[in-house]
Amino acid sequence: MGWPRPDPLDEAYLLLAYRSGRWGTRSPLVEEFEREFARYHDAKHGIAVTSGTAGLMLAYLAAGLRPGDKVAVPAYTFIATASAAVIWRGVPVFVDVDPQTLNMDPADLERVIEKHKDVKLIVPVHFAGIPAEMDEITKIAGERGASVIEDAAQAHGSAYRGRKVGAIGDAGSFSFQLSKLMAAGEGGIVVTNRDDVHEVVWSLHHVGRRPGGEWYEHPRLGWNFRMTEFQAAVLLSQLRRLDKTLSTLRRNWRVVVEGLERVDGIEVLEPPKHVDWNCYFTYIKIPEAVERGVELKLRFVKAVRERGVSLVEGYVEPLYRQLALRDPYWGLPGELYEGLRLKCTEEACSSVAWLPHYELLTDSEARLERIVAAVREAAGEVLN
Ligand SMILES: Cc1ncc(COP(=O)(O)O)c(C=O)c1O
Repeated sequence: MGWPRPDPLDEAYLLLAYRSGRWGTRSPLVEEFEREFARYHDAKHGIAVTSGTAGLMLAYLAAGLRPGDKVAVPAYTFIATASAAVIWRGVPVFVDVDPQTLNMDPADLERVIEKHKDVKLIVPVHFAGIPAEMDEITKIAGERGASVIEDAAQAHGSAYRGRKVGAIGDAGSFSFQLSKLMAAGEGGIVVTNRDDVHEVVWSLHHVGRRPGGEWYEHPRLGWNFRMTEFQAAVLLSQLRRLDKTLSTLRRNWRVVVEGLERVDGIEVLEPPKHVDWNCYFTYIKIPEAVERGVELKLRFVKAVRERGVSLVEGYVEPLYRQLALRDPYWGLPGELYEGLRLKCTEEACSSVAWLPHYELLTDSEARLERIVAAVREAAGEVLN
């Protein structure tokens, strides 16, 4: 997929880590990265971990998730948002999404919470790097005494009403998996402004140790979810150029979207004006596929890809239809998901494809024109 791209500064940092001989276990570049990433994201603390999934798992536990608690998640998200709760025997309950942002719809969250009064955690996902409606979501959570954990796996550098995402709620988790805007192969970080959450997540990711404690002293049960020095090395380098990456993405996004707006049969879903987003995915909607079904979207995506542009089909089924949730081992109440149909989620699955950020990260105007041309040609072939 041509991502991540090699960079001389990444190489220099990697060599620094290699030569230091300090390759893991709370090593210097890991601690520097935690401080700098947290500061960049308007957060007091950062705890670097092995993946975005691990970050969610630890943040949920630190926020007080206990067996049987309900966790409100959007139905249009990666399974980790829900499975990170199920592993602690939490019970995901699904919220429909806003048709424009495909993020948790606060109005539907109200409905879900009215029905499931025991929701303990609310997990907005800043999907595609577009910040969720945090003002409304944190207000609802406050009224119900629920915690808010942000799934910011895709949202490096995104901001909601001028404030970077991640630590607007109680805590948030970012991913550095291969396809992300900041990528270390694998990796993640939990950010928070809460000292108590920081202390617990730090301990959980470090085998239950306590800051300043003895090596073989474990006041709580924890696991090894620590990031290595090599991951921190490339991530520090990528963080140094994140502003530049974002400004290239946002500029090129505008160019591509102006072209796509003239293509018949598709619609670009533009994020609202009060957010700064990182263009992780540009949503291209095929409105006709809402009626005609997902096959039309798949044919359109194939036609674009045949023209050398890596459009992604995205989700084709809502999360609540994944077989994993029916595995009896996890004991989830089947009636919560059986026959569930959330309108905007269903429509997004049928009709929305994703143009990834790495397609927009180019210095070549000709390449941007090629993206628009590929979409236009595919639309002409498949949609008319
Ligand atoms: C929305 C969302 N949540 C969670 C994750 C999990 O992150 P990771 O793959 O680093 O475990 C991902 C990443 O793939 C994601 O896209």
